[in-house]
Amino acid sequence: MASQLLLLSLLCTLFVHQSHAACAEVASDTEAVAGKGFKLGCVSCKLRSEVESTAIIEWYFKPKGEADFFPIYTYGSGIATIEHEDFIDRVDWNGSKTSNDIQDGSIYVLNITFNDTGTFRCYFNRILIYPNHEYSTLVSKLVHLTVVAKATRGTASIVSEVMMYVTIIGLQVWLLIEMIYCYKKISAAGEEALREAA
Ligand SMILES: *[C@@H]1O[C@H](CO)[C@@H](O)[C@H](O)[C@H]1NC(C)=O
Ligand SMILES: *[C@@H]1O[C@H](CO)[C@@H](O)[C@H](O)[C@H]1NC(C)=O
Ligand SMILES: *[C@@H]1O[C@H](CO)[C@@H](O)[C@H](O)[C@H]1NC(C)=O
Repeated sequence: MASQLLLLSLLCTLFVHQSHAACAEVASDTEAVAGKGFKLGCVSCKLRSEVESTAIIEWYFKPKGEADFFPIYTYGSGIATIEHEDFIDRVDWNGSKTSNDIQDGSIYVLNITFNDTGTFRCYFNRILIYPNHEYSTLVSKLVHLTVVAKATRGTASIVSEVMMYVTIIGLQVWLLIEMIYCYKKISAAGEEALREAA
């Protein structure tokens, strides 16, 4: 038993460390709350992690109902540029901290408005640097963003928590009623028996 627990905790530790080191292409959240900040996620893992590379990240936005994307933000060599007036002072870098070898190109948009509803697209312009040549790759990802007045997922979890308490209390009340009912039946039967004996 003890050795099994030990093995389990060892595996767990290994897994946690692994997932810290490794790059995982987690999809972005897609529901933002008006007035709050929102992290637009974009991760593109390097397939050959041992090869050195540089990357430039570009973000584009297409408001809901419009036809074209326009550039909003560029990040490369540690320098961020906001490209569109609607996003001035509203975008912070949330991606990889090392300036060149970027695998996480996420950005953080402050003060979300309903006008931010639409499609965001991020581009990874990556150049893999081999001893004799360079190889450039382009990866793009989409985030379909909806903006809500307040977090609906929060409400759902509150409802489920309330339901859990209602269920627990309901079960206890039912148990209590059963016990009282049983007790009454038993004591009634006892009295009956006593009366019969007399
Ligand atoms: C993302 O940026 C926001 C705003 O600057 C900051 O509060 C938050 O801690 C950042 N998160 C990460 C994971 O870098
Ligand atoms: C974002 O909202 C805060 C609080 O409402 C405000 O102080 C700040 O000026 C806003 N920033 C921008 C860039 O609109
Ligand atoms: C949203 O867009 C409309 C139409 O372009 C504009 O009139 C309004 O001021 C915008 N709202 C915000 C909060 O940017």
